[in-house]
Amino acid sequence: MFPVLYFILTILISYSLSQNEDINEKDSVIAITRWSLAAYEWIINLNCSDQSYFTEETCLLAKENNQTNYRVYGSELVPGQKYGVVFPESESKYKHFHDGVLVLDPFPETSFGHPIAAFYVDINFNTSKCDSMKGFFIEGNACLQPISRNYFNMNMRNYRPKMRSAICPNCGEVIFLPLVYLQNEHPIQNNDRLHCFSTIPGFNKACPQLRPKSETDRIPCDPILTNRNCRFFETHLQHQCSTVMACDQAILISGGWNRQFSDISTLNNVRNIRRLLLLHGYVEENIVTYYANGPEEAQNSEEVTSPYRSASMKSRIRNQIRTLCDIDQCTDTLFIYMNSPTRPDGASLLWDSFNNGVYDDAEIYTAKELMRDVAYCKSNRVVIMADQNYGEALVAAAEAKLLALENVIIFTANEYFNWNTTKDRITKQLMKAENGDLCLQDFKNVCKSQMLEKLS
Ligand SMILES: *[C@@H]1O[C@H](CO)[C@@H](O)[C@H](O)[C@H]1NC(C)=O
Ligand SMILES: *[C@@H]1O[C@H](CO)[C@@H](O)[C@H](O)[C@H]1NC(C)=O
Ligand SMILES: *[C@@H]1O[C@H](CO)[C@@H](O)[C@H](O)[C@H]1NC(C)=O
Ligand SMILES: *[C@@H]1O[C@H](CO)[C@@H](O)[C@H](O)[C@H]1NC(C)=O
Repeated sequence: MFPVLYFILTILISYSLSQNEDINEKDSVIAITRWSLAAYEWIINLNCSDQSYFTEETCLLAKENNQTNYRVYGSELVPGQKYGVVFPESESKYKHFHDGVLVLDPFPETSFGHPIAAFYVDINFNTSKCDSMKGFFIEGNACLQPISRNYFNMNMRNYRPKMRSAICPNCGEVIFLPLVYLQNEHPIQNNDRLHCFSTIPGFNKACPQLRPKSETDRIPCDPILTNRNCRFFETHLQHQCSTVMACDQAILISGGWNRQFSDISTLNNVRNIRRLLLLHGYVEENIVTYYANGPEEAQNSEEVTSPYRSASMKSRIRNQIRTLCDIDQCTDTLFIYMNSPTRPDGASLLWDSFNNGVYDDAEIYTAKELMRDVAYCKSNRVVIMADQNYGEALVAAAEAKLLALENVIIFTANEYFNWNTTKDRITKQLMKAENGDLCLQDFKNVCKSQMLEKLS
């Protein structure tokens, strides 16, 4: 009797649970469809020469872009629940909670950071309240409020107002997806409530393929923070220098930041670059990859020579670069590949090891720091290949130290302080030319190399 009752109860419970999920999912899609359309209308009706949300250039590019390219991110509609947001740059100055969060990404083919349009959604605002929040009403009584960077308590000491507008027009725009959390929860990355919707009629049907949650939830193996067995770190500071001759050495840095940004393509990029370097004579031990929170095999590997490490500790990356640079006769070419979400001043976002959605100094690798690390490098040549946005900021940082960087060549994916070139452009082109010679001349054909021109 008892097992039968249990069985029936289980069926009933799971039936009603799945019913509820269906209803929520369906309601969410309906609501997010309405919000997305209204937000899209708002964007294409912007007067680009008279608005403060985007730069004029971004505004024009967004308006030109076809609606079917716009990618939609949103939070599920959960009755009685409110959401807060955290942006990597900093938390909102005021802790507001809202019925929903919507993000339209007009430029999903480009890497982060790039301008996006983010909105708070509130259902029961009256007109005066909506107006006071600089929002606009849509059918169904929802008030959409464009989130502007002015709401943030900017935690970017490097950005002087002059630099912001003159050198770095994008500094005022929202350029990273926020971490969205429920009011009664803490903002933690593993619980991000924002996700990409591929079923909104009229909008982009392709969402990034994310790594399995089990993989991105894992806390990076960090002997300081955990008692876990992190064997490969014990020897990690040993240099890989040969005693007989200088070798080519490579360091691949793909910070990833969080689950949303470290999608499968980022892992494929470092794997492809690694394969390419092996094909061109790099020795396995001399290619070290710092990837996000470290992929599965790195965590399980007992091998001290595991090629993948977590990108969560900046000091490890910097130490390794400095070690390779400091030792005479160690390195012929030091090849540094960079493929991370990027701030307009060239800083790479590493993994959010603190898991709170906001970066601190230990979670970003700035352009200045990188240049300091390769300054007076004793290798014959340092090649920095920045397949990420705002590469020009690296060049600017290098120019401030030219004498110390005579043997450094920087390849960037785009000119100026731009974000608008295709994601992973350099990597993709290198893969196409995979069987050709991998020499500087070839790099020059696929990348912009300001330093090369300036130095020669
Ligand atoms: C856009 O704004 C500019 C500057 O305020 C104004 O001169 C222009 O007439 C506006 N354009 C439209 C279509 O409203
Ligand atoms: C937008 O894309 C759709 C589908 O790809 C196409 O049918 C439509 O003509 C495009 N519209 C514009 C204005 O380019
Ligand atoms: C609108 O709502 C706010 C608070 O939510 C309230 O203070 C205000 O009186 C309301 N205004 C009107 C006209 O109902
Ligand atoms: C990128 O921006 C530059 C100006 O900064 C513009 O000239 C160029 O057309 C843009 N490229 C694309 C693909 O939109």
